[in-house]
Amino acid sequence: MCSVVGYIGKDYGRNFIIEGLSRLEYRGYDSAGFACLHPENNRLLYCKAEGRLQNLAAKFVTNPIDGHIGIGHTRWSTHGKPTETNAHPQFDCQQIISVVHNGIIENHHQLRVQLLEDGHVFHSDTDTEIIAHLIESLLKKHNDLNRAIVQLVAMLEGAFSFICIMEAYPDQMILVRKRSPLCIGMGDDEMFVASDALAFAEKTQKVLFLQDESFAIVRRNGVEIYDFKEKPLPIMIHELAFDWKAGDKRGHKHFMLKEIYEQKRAIHATVEFLASLQDDLWGHIGLSEEVIYNLERLSLIGCGTSWHAARIAQFFFENICNIPTRIYLASEMRYMPFFRESQSLYIAISQSGETADTLEALRMVSSFNLPTLALTNVASSTMVREADGFLLTQAGHEIAVASTKAFSTQLAALYWLAHRIAYEKKLIDGQAMELAEDDLLIAAEVLENSIENYKFIIQQKLAPFYAQFKQSIFLGRHISYPFALEAALKLKEVSYIFAQCYPAGELKHGPLALIDEHIPVFIFSCQDQVIYRKLVANAQEAKARGGHIVAFCFEGQQELIDLADVPFIFPRCRALLEPLVMSGLMQYFVYEIANVLGCEIDKPRNLAKSVTVE
Ligand code: M6R
Repeated sequence: MCSVVGYIGKDYGRNFIIEGLSRLEYRGYDSAGFACLHPENNRLLYCKAEGRLQNLAAKFVTNPIDGHIGIGHTRWSTHGKPTETNAHPQFDCQQIISVVHNGIIENHHQLRVQLLEDGHVFHSDTDTEIIAHLIESLLKKHNDLNRAIVQLVAMLEGAFSFICIMEAYPDQMILVRKRSPLCIGMGDDEMFVASDALAFAEKTQKVLFLQDESFAIVRRNGVEIYDFKEKPLPIMIHELAFDWKAGDKRGHKHFMLKEIYEQKRAIHATVEFLASLQDDLWGHIGLSEEVIYNLERLSLIGCGTSWHAARIAQFFFENICNIPTRIYLASEMRYMPFFRESQSLYIAISQSGETADTLEALRMVSSFNLPTLALTNVASSTMVREADGFLLTQAGHEIAVASTKAFSTQLAALYWLAHRIAYEKKLIDGQAMELAEDDLLIAAEVLENSIENYKFIIQQKLAPFYAQFKQSIFLGRHISYPFALEAALKLKEVSYIFAQCYPAGELKHGPLALIDEHIPVFIFSCQDQVIYRKLVANAQEAKARGGHIVAFCFEGQQELIDLADVPFIFPRCRALLEPLVMSGLMQYFVYEIANVLGCEIDKPRNLAKSVTVE
């Protein structure tokens, strides 16, 4: 789980590079390094250290190198031990070319043998060093940088991205991307480069996401981009909707609360980002148009909250683009019989892009040569690298263990994708596509307003009251059932109150036996009249047994409103967006319950943000 960061411009780059790497360090690493060109004589200077970034920073005290062009890296070892020699940057024979790299060069052994035969001398065990030596020999052969890069990428197999600086080209930085993300932050007479825009989000809001299989020549005042055949590509700049301030709660008591409130902006940013990709969507996400045109089946894979988002999205894909959609819980999928389905796309959904079960399920699907897409919030994640294509939510850094804005942006992105596939298949027109985008923006608005509407009463009255119960039941039907699952999970993880969720129709098949005045029943309504009537009947059953009802319902649903001890009433919306509209208030309510109980909300006991072990 490596990260790369680079700088070229009017200032000295080292501080930015180390700060940028530290913003990405939550991903884990075992060594770090920095290289730059001397500001006067352009000699390549470097410094590396085993372990944490602090170890590297400590070395700058006696070796205070810096320059106007520089690159940095945190390494998670794959090829070779986590030693200083194996840390990046890696170099060519003369130490005049320096490379930092993410990903894996799969044919590194074969290339190394060839380079050794040609007389190159290697110092590390890394696959990265191959890149520096190959650039050295290709430049000798062609004396043309672009040609050398084109030849180089044709020789490399695997998924990788790298940044290179060279003494011979002191005013430019070379970026190469294949199935591993890289982006450029455009500054004023300076450029910031990183595997994740989080690294430079405080410096600039203008970002250029390098397209898959492309390379860039970056100068302090301009960028050229080419595909792997050296065809120039257009420069498409995206506006980051936030400046991410990791580690800053912005006046909120907990990150979870801050993140609940960031949802409106995060949904806006996600929709705007996706909409801006329209013409080049499939190229950008790395899938061929053919896969989409011929799509007959979809499979969505995830764990925890991402699995709930998948289950909700099943309704999107089946209703909007008529595609039968299977949902896989990643931890189960790998141990079940797998039936290879052609004309199918497998979408791994994961906030972190690192969840071990989801990653292994993705790898299993890839081993059957089936097309895969990663929907994640972390551009530099392993899933982004390993899936055939990727789509990024724009939630910004989510720090609280309990997922909030990642969930709502997943829903927004999946709703958008369902429409985009329907559009591609000519099931809807451009106007319907635009309407879907508007509906998402409206849903984001309602999400935030509903928190404001009920905030006071929740804080003053409802949260202290519901914090007294030791257990609770959650009910939903149709699209509100997977949402009820998510609500129950949220309550459990932040408040430690036991919550059991059922499809409401199951009530009489057993759970009704649990209901009395000591157990609150949370019911999530739907606008569909038939489903609503059934939910009212379920609420009556619970009420008749003394159950205490909290209903999330819609304007005009008077019977349910009257039955409920606490009705939260939402304005009517697109039926498929009901879970998105309700998510902010649901999260806020459970947050306040946990707050009353004095729980460790951002880091609940026994839980980790990224579950990277099975
Ligand atoms: O990073 P991922 O979306 O793959 O994570 C999956 C689950 O571990 C995660 O959603 C977990 O359930 C959250 N703590 C829920 O709030």
